[in-house]
Amino acid sequence: MAVALITGASRGIGAAIATTLAQQGYKVVVNHRASAPLAEDLVATIAAAGGEAVSIQGDVTKADDVTSMVDQVKERWGSVDVLVHNALTPYDITSFADMSWEQLGGKVDTELRAAFLTTKAVVPGMIARGSGRLIYLSALLSRKPRNGMITLGTAKAALDQFVRYVALELAPNGITANLVAPTTVEGALSAGLVSAERLKAIAASIPMGRLAKPGEVANTVAYLASDASGFTTGHYIPVSGGFGME
Ligand SMILES: NC(=O)c1ccc[n+]([C@@H]2O[C@H](COP(=O)([O-])OP(=O)(O)OC[C@H]3O[C@@H](n4cnc5c(N)ncnc54)[C@H](OP(=O)(O)O)[C@@H]3O)[C@@H](O)[C@H]2O)c1
Repeated sequence: MAVALITGASRGIGAAIATTLAQQGYKVVVNHRASAPLAEDLVATIAAAGGEAVSIQGDVTKADDVTSMVDQVKERWGSVDVLVHNALTPYDITSFADMSWEQLGGKVDTELRAAFLTTKAVVPGMIARGSGRLIYLSALLSRKPRNGMITLGTAKAALDQFVRYVALELAPNGITANLVAPTTVEGALSAGLVSAERLKAIAASIPMGRLAKPGEVANTVAYLASDASGFTTGHYIPVSGGFGME
């Protein structure tokens, strides 16, 4: 049974991904930084439904935490077959005019640091096994700018290109690396940063007339984790109801 490590899985999109992958038979690692009760509840829910999950605390922007987390997974289940970079490190909504370097540089740093550290930690095992799935949560904002979202959109655009380089280098090893790029997701905590009025306007701007659902993002991740996607690497897959098509 394959093992999937989902960063920031105590709530929101990460929790939906953990639930979906557990339903599909993966052993699931529910990583969190500071929400142990939420993560434990999710693990209990997955177990009650017949799945297998464990919660592991670890700040994915800290090298020692990431090493320790991956060591714990290996000790328990032998390997990490699927990595989902999902944890949402904090960011500010701001105009360029009001933004400081610390706001922009800080978000770019935490986004890339988390992706870098977790990828570094799992790739050697994947190379040794000749297979692996690396899946990264981007955001449609990395390609379609929206006022106020410059810190998140810029950080995710940097992540996008990092993932393409990783995909290129690891392709000969049977490892795929892909991006899932949702538009605003309903019910996710980060959506709470945006006013109800703005959420309504965002939904109206989407051809399908609504926000994305966490489960729809999770299903796309599940496809990329599966054998069915084995020849797909380096791609950016929007989950956006037709918004931002190219
Ligand atoms: N929500 C949207 O509308 C939307 C749209 C496009 C893309 N996305 C992307 O989807 C991903 C998930 O977003 P979300 O809205 O579901 O987030 P969320 O509801 O805010 O949840 C964030 C998760 O990340 C964890 N986390 C935060 N900092 C962490 C750290 N340093 N180390 C480990 N875990 C950490 C949180 O756990 P703790 O509480 O323990 O810190 C929590 O489990 C993000 O990458 C986001 O950019 C979201």
